[in-house]
Amino acid sequence: MGRFRLGLLDINDGENACCFWVLKGDRNMEKSPSLQGREVVIGVTGGIAAYKAATLVSRLVQASAGVTVVMTEAATHLVSPKTFEALSRRPVALGMWDTLTHPHIELAQEADILCVAPATANFLAKAALGLADDLLSTLVLAFSGPIFVAPAMNVAMWQKPVVQRNLQQLRQDGIHIIEPESGYLSCGMVGAGRMAEPEQIFERLVEVLRTLPPREKKLR
Ligand SMILES: Cc1cc2nc3c(=O)[nH]c(=O)nc-3n(C[C@H](O)[C@H](O)[C@H](O)COP(=O)(O)O)c2cc1C
Repeated sequence: MGRFRLGLLDINDGENACCFWVLKGDRNMEKSPSLQGREVVIGVTGGIAAYKAATLVSRLVQASAGVTVVMTEAATHLVSPKTFEALSRRPVALGMWDTLTHPHIELAQEADILCVAPATANFLAKAALGLADDLLSTLVLAFSGPIFVAPAMNVAMWQKPVVQRNLQQLRQDGIHIIEPESGYLSCGMVGAGRMAEPEQIFERLVEVLRTLPPREKKLR
């Protein structure tokens, strides 16, 4: 009953033209940028914050991005692939040996950006070493565009020198780290290691997606 009002706001800063859909009445959709034609791969690893990745995927889809979700085996114990399939309206990529012939190459070629959220300590270690023993870690090696990771873990894990060393290695390798926050953790502890909020991750991705040149190839 007149709760939502849709408007289009054009912004052109001389270099990057961009339009914003303004949906009054919905806090998340206010000033939502159009990501039409952009392809994003969201990697989901086996952290309890995997449920927050659902909000991130939904946010990107609402902004008209094409989103493909890649889950590790551990992640599927925490959130059903069906949730991501429904939100992205695409099949979820789970393994190297499923439907695509070279899934890591095909996904890498077709995406503008790769974001792993949540990123477990295990994933960070594998990425820092260049291990490629599942689809997501292999995709990280095959992908040449911007890579973001949003770590999430228990505070004791977060403070381990080896975890911080791996993060430092990833920064040196050009991977963008979206720092976790301090707060309540699912294990009952309070401290650093809580994944950044989906809205904050979304904004970081939009910032970069806006500056990338248009892609020629379309996914599926
Ligand atoms: C309920 C539950 C929650 C977990 N949450 C986290 C987490 O937040 N961060 C993390 O690094 N590991 C977490 N783990 C451990 C990872 O799932 C485990 O290290 C796994 O091997 C990660 O695999 P992946 O990196 O391939 O997804 C959790 C395990 C369980 C059972």
